[in-house]
Amino acid sequence: MTTGHVRTEPERIALYGPEFARDPQRAYARMRACGDLAPVELSPGVPATLVLGYDAALEILRDPGTFPRTSEVWEAAVGPECPVLPMMMARPNALFTNGAVHARLRSVIVDSLDRVDPVSLREYVQRHADTLIDRFAGDGKADLIGQYSRTLPLLVFNEMFGCPHDIGDKLVRGMSAIFDTVSAEEGNALLGEATGELVAYKRRKPGADVTSWMMSHPAGLDDLEMVHQLILLVGAGTEPEQNLIANGIRLLLSDERFGGDLSSGSLPVDDALDEILWTDPPMANYGTTFPRQDVDFHGYHLPAHQPVLVSYAAANTDPSRATADRKGNRAHLSYAGGPHTCPAKGHSRLIASVAIEQLLDRLPDVELAVPADRLEWRPGPFHRALTALPVTFPPVWDRP
Ligand code: HEM
Repeated sequence: MTTGHVRTEPERIALYGPEFARDPQRAYARMRACGDLAPVELSPGVPATLVLGYDAALEILRDPGTFPRTSEVWEAAVGPECPVLPMMMARPNALFTNGAVHARLRSVIVDSLDRVDPVSLREYVQRHADTLIDRFAGDGKADLIGQYSRTLPLLVFNEMFGCPHDIGDKLVRGMSAIFDTVSAEEGNALLGEATGELVAYKRRKPGADVTSWMMSHPAGLDDLEMVHQLILLVGAGTEPEQNLIANGIRLLLSDERFGGDLSSGSLPVDDALDEILWTDPPMANYGTTFPRQDVDFHGYHLPAHQPVLVSYAAANTDPSRATADRKGNRAHLSYAGGPHTCPAKGHSRLIASVAIEQLLDRLPDVELAVPADRLEWRPGPFHRALTALPVTFPPVWDRP
């Protein structure tokens, strides 16, 4: 019989549901009582460990030997119905592979993205932003998620990847079916079809675009490898990007520190993006790893093969690293760190800042239609995403 003090298990906080979505920072503050890591639940009955400390997060991101992306044992245990499986299951793409396989796939992505000309990128973000704004500028009101930030990154993707209209349309429909959770199966099928058609088209007609550069890369990806990387790129390039744009607009329209500068004519869009990337990163909790063996880490026991997620949002706001001045400070972890660091950091900032500047330029008197604290957030453990961003503005019929 044991006597004396019995250690109680800390509460496992749910990262799903409206309560967490409404105020994730409150949940992270409660979890910090456990230390740098805390037990969480990703969906009902699916446990995981969340890394909250900035230093602990970096250690994990930089040590793929101890913390690889090998989910097979866990996948077999949770079964095919597990709702978070699609975001966490092994796939033959850069995000979910390790070591030499990862290095090869990533080199193709990095080298090809590096060839994108920032002047052209800026030009087509502006052009597509204008087309979308034209559609609602005369209405005096809009939902900037449904009518702007959700579609713009897809149109930009089509340009960057040299996607012809019909294939681009299919991609948009596929991504929308997934976003709207109409049918993930239908969405996945459309995405697979569209990327397969894009690869076949570019084999026949290569151009000055990321798809063609990836296909001619010395690493020699075959068609199936290309399809898997393109699906990763369209997913990675659209969902977080729309949230960066929308969260940035929300901050600019609701925070006096930025509003003041807005009316004085100088638009501190880059400062707002820096702030958002510290406080409301679009990918809030991800970088899922599965330790090969049991590990004792920062006073916490991590069992082999059980998921460990990095909370980019909590690590950035770790009180031991708190900083008042975030302008121009890019030491946040919102683009991850280590070998899986986002390869499109520069592109993604450029797309978001041009998207926001163009909107404020065309509709300088745009305002939130509801108080910022009444905006609703999409539930889910991985993202920081508004459901809608309703705004009003004096109608404008002509382009300046
Ligand atoms: C043009 C837009 C974007 C593209 C094409 C893109 C592409 C990618 C790709 C291919 C990876 C996988 C890299 C690897 O595993 O080696 C990745 C990772 C990542 N990206 Fe991006 N990305 C974009 C925008 C963003 C945005 C806006 C954010 C959020 C601020 C973001 C955050 C991340 C993070 C956190 C990872 C690591 C994923 C993890 O947690 O494991 N990305 N991105």
